[in-house]
Formats: sequence, C-alpha cells, structure tokens
Amino acid sequence: AATVTYDFDISWVYANPDGVQNRPTIGINGKWPIPPIIATKGDRIIVNAMNSLGNESTSLHFHGLYQNGTNHMDGPESVTQCGIPAGGSFTYNFTVDQPGTYWYHSHTHGQYPDGLRGPLIVHDPDSPHKDLYDEEIVLTFSDWYHDLMHGLLADFISIKNPGGAEPVPNSALVNDTQNLTVSIQPGKTYLFRIINMGAFAAQYVWFEGHTMKIVEVDGIYTEPAEANMIYMTAAQRYSVVITTKNSTDANFAFVGSMDQDLFDNIPDGLNPNVTGWLVYDEKKEKPAPKEVEAFEPFDDFGLVPQDKEGIYDKVDHSLTLNLKMDNLGDGANYAFFNDVTYMPPKVPTLYTTLSTGPNATDPTIYGSNTNQFVLEANEVVEIVLNNDDPGKHPFHLHGHAFQVVSRSEDEAGAYTPSSSTSFPQTPMRRDTVLVHPNGNIVLRFKADNPGVWLFHCHIEWHVASGLVATMIEDPLGLQRQLSGKIPESHLQACKDSNTPTEGNAAGN
Ligand code: C2O
Repeated sequence: AATVTYDFDISWVYANPDGVQNRPTIGINGKWPIPPIIATKGDRIIVNAMNSLGNESTSLHFHGLYQNGTNHMDGPESVTQCGIPAGGSFTYNFTVDQPGTYWYHSHTHGQYPDGLRGPLIVHDPDSPHKDLYDEEIVLTFSDWYHDLMHGLLADFISIKNPGGAEPVPNSALVNDTQNLTVSIQPGKTYLFRIINMGAFAAQYVWFEGHTMKIVEVDGIYTEPAEANMIYMTAAQRYSVVITTKNSTDANFAFVGSMDQDLFDNIPDGLNPNVTGWLVYDEKKEKPAPKEVEAFEPFDDFGLVPQDKEGIYDKVDHSLTLNLKMDNLGDGANYAFFNDVTYMPPKVPTLYTTLSTGPNATDPTIYGSNTNQFVLEANEVVEIVLNNDDPGKHPFHLHGHAFQVVSRSEDEAGAYTPSSSTSFPQTPMRRDTVLVHPNGNIVLRFKADNPGVWLFHCHIEWHVASGLVATMIEDPLGLQRQLSGKIPESHLQACKDSNTPTEGNAAGN
C-alpha cells in the first residue's frame, strides 16, 4: 500500500461553469473545479488542508468512508472537529480499505454548494467486476447556484420564507461544465463512476442508445443489474458499465435532468437538464437529446449486494425519527426529528465523548439540541424514519453503509411493523437513500464502528434548517481508541476558532 498526499490550499476563486455569471467559488490551489482524490484500496490518504478563505472556517468530509479507528478524521465541523479557522491548517490522515466511488466536501455550514466538493475514487485491483470493462471515466452531476450560499441561507431561514421554500438551482452541471464531450472508442466497455455532488436536486441520468449495467452503489458492489435510467439523489453514487457501439456512425447524448418535483416553484426559463456527449467521431454532429415523456428510473431497492450479506434479522435497538418541517417562534421554517431541530454544539461531540469518561454513555451530556442517540458496541441498530413532509429527502449516515430493509411508496404514512411484512433477504446496502413524500424507510446496521456519526438529510438546505441526528456509537470503545490521540493541528483549530462573519474574501 502507498501513501497519497494532497496539499490543498482552500481559497476563493472565480468560476462561471454555466456561462451565465462569474461568481466567487471555493477552489483549491487557485483553481476550480477542484482535483479528485484518487487512491487504491489499502492506501493511506493524507490531506494537508490550509484555509485561505479569509474570514470563514472550513472542513473536509470524505463522504462514504467508514473512518474505522479514525473518527476524528471524518470532517463535520462541531461533530468530530472544530472548523479549520481562517488562516489555519489541519491534517486529515487515514487509511482506506473500501474500494469504490465516493466524494469529498466541506462539512461546514452551507459551504459545499459554493464549490468545495470533488470526487474521491478508491481503486480495487481485486474488483469482482474488473473483467467487465476496459477503461473508467468519472462523471459528476450537480446543481449550480449563481448566488453565494451565505446570502441564500440567510433568506432561506428567515421570516421572509415562513413556508421553507428551498432556493431553486439556476442550472445543472456535468463535470462542472455544460459543455462536456467524452471521447470513446467503438466496441469497448467503460466503467462510468457517476456521482451526484449537488446541494439539492436529485437527477435522472441516462445515455441515449446505450444500456447501463449497475455494478456498484455508494461503494457497495452489486450483482450486475441493467438500467436505462437511474435516479440519483444528492450524494448518491453509481458505477455503471456501458458497452459502446461497434461503429462510429453517430455520437450520442447523455443527460442529467434535475427532479423538478423537489422545487416549490419553477422559475421561468429554468433548464433542468445538462447534456453531455459520447463522442465516437469528432467530425460528426452532437445530436440534441430527445424529449423524455416518462421518467422511469431503475428502483434501487431491488439491488442485491455482490457479497449477498444477509439481512440483520434480530434488532437490538430500534429508534424512530419522525421528520417534520415547521415554524419556530422566530417565524422562520426549520426541520425537526422528533420535534427537535439540530443545533451544532460549541464543543465537538467527539471531544465531549472523549473528555467525559464513564459519563460518555449518558445522552444528556451531549446537549438537548443535538438529537443524540447512544449506541452500544456491536448491537444491531434499526432506524425507522417517518417522513411527515410532502417532500423527498435523501438520508445519509456517516461511518456505515446501512441495509435498506423497507421503503414505502409515497403517502404511506408512518411505518407500522406487522407480522406479514416480508423483508428482502439480501437487502441493498448504501450510505444515502431516498425516502418518499409522506412515506417511510427502515434501515439497519451493526454498531461495529466506534465513533460519533451524523445521520442527516443531504439536502444542504435541510442540514442548515436542522434535519440532523447524532449517533454516538460505542462511546467507551471510542475513548479506548482515541483518548489522548487527537493530533495537535486538530486541537489548535479549536483554540484559534473564530466565528464566521458575513461576506466573503472575494470582496462581495
Ligand atoms: Cu456527504 Cu454529512 O455528508
């Protein structure tokens, strides 16, 4: 195994990926798009992050990585670290044993949609699918806003917006552009690693004239499954194998189309689609995509993990999260689990766990606004999530891939277990899953990874409005792993931490 080291100087740059408006964007080493992190299974990844944003803190989270034994490298500000203060630096250092398609992003209040998000790929010399393809290509889809997050967020959570309508993106991007061509060769097979790095919009993705074979979701290998269209929520990933045509007669469009059901209003002139092209012959035209009449994506609930891990039959600890959106006394709209809207604690929850000795198993020490759940070592945990809201939400758990053992259709209401419920015997596992409007999901995982792990909606607006819970998994085991081991750059971040101020260093 190797060590791969990245020196990231994080600062404001200007970017104009949809050709409409140059805007301040968070770049790395003076550039945007930011670079991918690429490693091979077993490697150590070191990221030396320097915060040159000028006047706000930052952080990096490596979405989907289990961080087994390295909870303090997980990234979320106020949870496993203090924000990296302006002018400060911070080292992330961990090994990765999980192959697959991931991404990394800021986990500081509302920041990643301003640009600080990129792919993270872990190659696997032993992939069970390696004989299925010749080459691989990374495609990122995302939504894009012309305005900066701090202004959008201030308006979003305010008395001006009592209904909680989320800002609608201005456009969609693929590989951070609207002008992507992918040169391919006839008669070859390609692995497309597709990532939705968006802040809000789920996207339908399809390739005209080509069939996809899904072989991985969120880092979990699956039994190959054919699909003509996939639906990717914010933060989900799919690897698909595509066999190209045997001739160079034509080029083909591929499309990402934002799910407009998520939008409370559809602004005039919004183009929800971004188009790219599989280019067989540069001299031939790039055809416009056909209109789609019905969006019929593959249902990920039917996927089977390649390792055929059986369902956790016996649940030791079931917890229920009832989701709702409502106004607080200040007239602004917030999101709630069980009537609590999450507020980031002053001291990162991990540090509280490490400093409180035997009391770490007492949920009350973590503060009543952190939506905390203490999990015992190795118990099988079930999360029942009831969505009492007419919106779709993509839920993500840090530190694990969970089994999705049940998912209702729209409008099913709260989950009611019954003896006739039949669960899949080898349920799909992933780290981000969609719950349908006014529906429910049931997730299971084994608490075998000591750490403080967030569970949250991956719509960045909903993180800001409080749709977050904290899993404090095996706190005493976590103390044995990490007490006295928090590195100096992490402790220094807390000493220097400054409160974020309005405005940004790009001069707006
Ligand atoms: Cu993509 Cu809390 O993370």
